[in-house]
Amino acid sequence: MQVCLFLTLITLPILKAISLNNYPKGYVHSINDLNVYDVGSNYSNSTAIVVVYDIRGFNISQTRIFCDRLSFEYKARVCMPDVFRGTAAPENTSELQAWMAKVGNWSQIEKDLRTVNDQLKKDGAKKLAILGFCFGGLQVLRACGQLSNDYSAGISIHGSSLTVGEAENVLRPMMLLAAGNDLPLTDIATVLNKKSFGSQCEYKVYSNMRHGFASARANFSDPENVKALDDVHDKCNKFLHKILIDSATKRTNT
Ligand SMILES: *[C@@H]1O[C@H](CO)[C@@H](O)[C@H](O)[C@H]1NC(C)=O
Ligand SMILES: *[C@@H]1O[C@H](CO)[C@@H](O)[C@H](O)[C@H]1NC(C)=O
Ligand SMILES: *[C@@H]1O[C@H](CO)[C@@H](O)[C@H](O)[C@H]1NC(C)=O
Ligand SMILES: *[C@@H]1O[C@H](CO)[C@@H](O)[C@H](O)[C@H]1NC(C)=O
Ligand SMILES: *[C@@H]1O[C@H](CO)[C@@H](O)[C@H](O)[C@H]1NC(C)=O
Ligand SMILES: *[C@@H]1O[C@H](CO)[C@@H](O)[C@H](O)[C@H]1NC(C)=O
Repeated sequence: MQVCLFLTLITLPILKAISLNNYPKGYVHSINDLNVYDVGSNYSNSTAIVVVYDIRGFNISQTRIFCDRLSFEYKARVCMPDVFRGTAAPENTSELQAWMAKVGNWSQIEKDLRTVNDQLKKDGAKKLAILGFCFGGLQVLRACGQLSNDYSAGISIHGSSLTVGEAENVLRPMMLLAAGNDLPLTDIATVLNKKSFGSQCEYKVYSNMRHGFASARANFSDPENVKALDDVHDKCNKFLHKILIDSATKRTNT
């Protein structure tokens, strides 16, 4: 009994430390001219989550680890397309605007998302959700309106430049998570709460976290950041389960 307790006490922190960055990793392949980071197709092809990264782009290990963990814990396929096509935000801030004007073009992003979705559906996906960080959060807001035939749910994590106008067009339940220094979610929530699916939407502010804490700026050495990330993953898993599984079951039962 005492030995068991002792073993549990020493193995738990070790297991946690090992698992933190060691989720089964995905691989990069291309669909037409679009590279994608793809993880979890050996768990399930029937549910897939498309991830839109932040302005630091495709090669950020923290963002990929988020995909790995989401796939591992939710047991679904996760695909992150390289919509910036090998580029990322320039260090020189005076070049940022021109770069963003080029790569942030929604018509192109919409096209890329359709390309990914078509492949996922071809591989057997019955349910799709979309999740994005910072810049990607805005794309999620748009996708939940303009690509609502494809996506059943959207998650924005420290989304930036989210506007009430874009929120008006949303047609799918969303969860919005924000850092303490992001703009308040209240105006967006007011809009979404009025929708027929408003009661399914969720919001949370991590007031001790800074913008970027779940993707490019995630610091796995900071216990507070790790704790917040644990909570983000827990909320993502529960929200996806609620929308993709529970409400779908309810719909078919009625
Ligand atoms: C899925 O594939 C990854 C490597 O691509 C591997 O590490 C992992 O164990 C596999 N999972 C299952 C459930 O087979
Ligand atoms: C998912 O699809 C891929 C590609 O068609 C296939 O290799 C894999 O075995 C499938 N996974 C499952 C769990 O059926
Ligand atoms: C990411 O890595 C690939 C392959 O090494 C490279 O071609 C691409 O330019 C890199 N992207 C960024 C944004 O650095
Ligand atoms: C930043 O970009 C601008 C416009 O291209 C250029 O004039 C400026 O010299 C650059 N600054 C640095 C520090 O490279
Ligand atoms: C935006 O993308 C669409 C689709 O690829 C393209 O036709 C259009 O020219 C692009 N617009 C700009 C301003 O780059
Ligand atoms: C990450 O967090 C640790 C512990 O709080 C801190 O010492 C380190 O400076 C942080 N790293 C960055 C890049 O902020």
